[in-house]
Amino acid sequence: MQFGITTLFGILVFAIVTGIVWRLASRRRELPCPAWLHWCVELDNPFTKTNRAAFIVEHLRLEEGMAVLDAGCGPGRLTVPVAKLVGASGVVVAVDVQSGMLDRARQKVAASGLNNVQFLNAAIGDGKLPNTCFDRALLITVLGEIIDPKAALKEIFNALKPGGILSVTEVIFDPHFQSCGTVTALASEVGFMVKERWGHKLAFVLHLAKPNVA
Ligand SMILES: C[S@@+](CC[C@H](N)C(=O)[O-])C[C@H]1O[C@@H](n2cnc3c(N)ncnc32)[C@H](O)[C@@H]1O
Repeated sequence: MQFGITTLFGILVFAIVTGIVWRLASRRRELPCPAWLHWCVELDNPFTKTNRAAFIVEHLRLEEGMAVLDAGCGPGRLTVPVAKLVGASGVVVAVDVQSGMLDRARQKVAASGLNNVQFLNAAIGDGKLPNTCFDRALLITVLGEIIDPKAALKEIFNALKPGGILSVTEVIFDPHFQSCGTVTALASEVGFMVKERWGHKLAFVLHLAKPNVA
């Protein structure tokens, strides 16, 4: 009994210390969640409903034929359900900086029989996205992994159509967690307007709109 409690405590301390070191190191250089940890990303965390794929997808209000950018798609946790909802007349562009993550996403898309997903191995913020293309963009537990988050948000802003929506999710369990205040401030600087928010300070989904100028 005593041994079990000590082991659990040891694992908890190890996880917290690793998270803190990872977070601090990420401020100096890009240290994304490694591809071998894809299984961890794919878990639908039972403690934070705002990071569950079903919750995020439901609030996107997707329609058939929409074009969606999955920025930092990882192993395709969101890519597959979103591609199903936009249908054959829609498209999902799944972008990730790590080819290992994209390989995993490709496998899942192929296994689902979908052919409306395009993959792009690129870093958001490096200017590889097309302009004024997307109805929706997803940035789910990605922003804190990006060294220049403002450049990334600016690129996504330009890639959205007027009236398009960027959905950002952040959860405290992620070592790269960004507060709602930080995300809102950066997003406002590049032109986004806050539209809606769900959850609380430690786990939230934030919808940011690109103004619909006439
Ligand atoms: C924690 S995972 C989240 C994956 C997915 N969004 C999800 O919620 O299931 C973060 C992902 O962002 C990717 N990433 C980090 N920086 C990136 C960048 N600048 N451009 C594109 N992808 C990036 C990482 O490679 C990783 O796959």
